Amino acid sequence: MSADGPDRAGDGSVDATARVVDGAAATDEERQVEAALRPRRLAEFPGQQRVRDQLGLVLEAARRRQAPPDHVLLSGPPGLGKTTLAMIISAELEQPMRITSGPAIQHAGDLAAVLSSLVEGEVLFVDEIHRMARPAEELLYLAMEDFRVDVIVGKGPGATAIPLELPPFTVVGATTRAGLLPAPLRDRFGFTGHLDYYSTEDLQRILVRSAGLLEIEATRDGIYEIASRSRGTPRIANRLLRRVRDWAQVHGQHIVDHEAALAALELFDVDQQGLDRLDRAVLEALCKRFGGGPVGLGTLAVAVGEEPDTVETVAEPYLVREGYIVRTPRGRSASRTAWEHLGLTPPHPGVAQDQLPIGEQPGRLDH
Ligand SMILES: Nc1ncnc2c1ncn2[C@@H]1O[C@H](COP(=O)(O)OP(=O)(O)OP(=O)(O)O)[C@@H](O)[C@H]1O
Ligand SMILES: [Mg+2]
Repeated sequence: MSADGPDRAGDGSVDATARVVDGAAATDEERQVEAALRPRRLAEFPGQQRVRDQLGLVLEAARRRQAPPDHVLLSGPPGLGKTTLAMIISAELEQPMRITSGPAIQHAGDLAAVLSSLVEGEVLFVDEIHRMARPAEELLYLAMEDFRVDVIVGKGPGATAIPLELPPFTVVGATTRAGLLPAPLRDRFGFTGHLDYYSTEDLQRILVRSAGLLEIEATRDGIYEIASRSRGTPRIANRLLRRVRDWAQVHGQHIVDHEAALAALELFDVDQQGLDRLDRAVLEALCKRFGGGPVGLGTLAVAVGEEPDTVETVAEPYLVREGYIVRTPRGRSASRTAWEHLGLTPPHPGVAQDQLPIGEQPGRLDH
């Protein structure tokens, strides 16, 4: 399959999770290791049982009909396997895959050029689909529905639209922000798979597989320690495995064991609960500078020196899920767990009225 090569994955998109652990953007080497560790088929893909079952059914039905499947949208936080699943879809269908991304499509013409060159059955992977320009979005959802694009010839009042028929194809969109997709585009996807954080057991399985591929010898408790501190994210688990391997090698041992895991995780600022530097910076800003909140996303992002988008897509989903942060109509608030995690005493016992999660309170959403 041509989409396997690491060069095809180098689409210039920003790998936000890289910043969290390593303090630097993903390098080419990093991308190559990631590509080497990607499961190639659905059966080799641990975790996400529900999405895997649903996707398996969609693909099998398409195979039996000998027609391309419905368009697929994959959503979820960074590093959980959206790109990996997109590649698996193309491999399972035995169809070539074309890769592009939202930021690369800033004009409808860019997209028209890609669409008009697709071959029958091809998989078009649009990463970060929520970042596509509006006119291109419109062109895409019309093409997804009618397999047709209007090519505009000429300019001004004399311009004419020439309809161009397209062969049937499948769009696989990936997004960390499904909520930002306009409804007409979202509705054109026949199947949406939402990826959630992995359990420690699933991460252990992923790590055992990665250790095998990277020829790293590891003990069961070493693997467990890494898995339980990887924020439910395979990309982070794989990266921490390599850092622990580095630590072990530098300390003259050739096995990733519990001691190596503990020492390396401490060195790389990953705490007992698996929170990293950015997570703790967010919690500290929230508790120490803003008295536990509520505080708006923009203000919080400035306080930790990050883009609001990074705080919202990288740090926040996990902190909310683990109960450290509560999203309220007036902003983000620290929960009791957050204060306790930082070794501080919460100012008010109990949960105030405005700390009820969104959905349990009437009124506006914050942004
Ligand atoms: N279920 C899994 N089993 C094994 N490895 C996985 C799994 N999911 C993800 N990975 C590994 O994690 C890394 C990141 O996965 P991937 O690139 O698919 O994430 P993503 O959801 O596309 O992230 P982003 O939003 O940043 O683009 C890859 O190296 C991949 O090998
Ligand atoms: Mg991706």
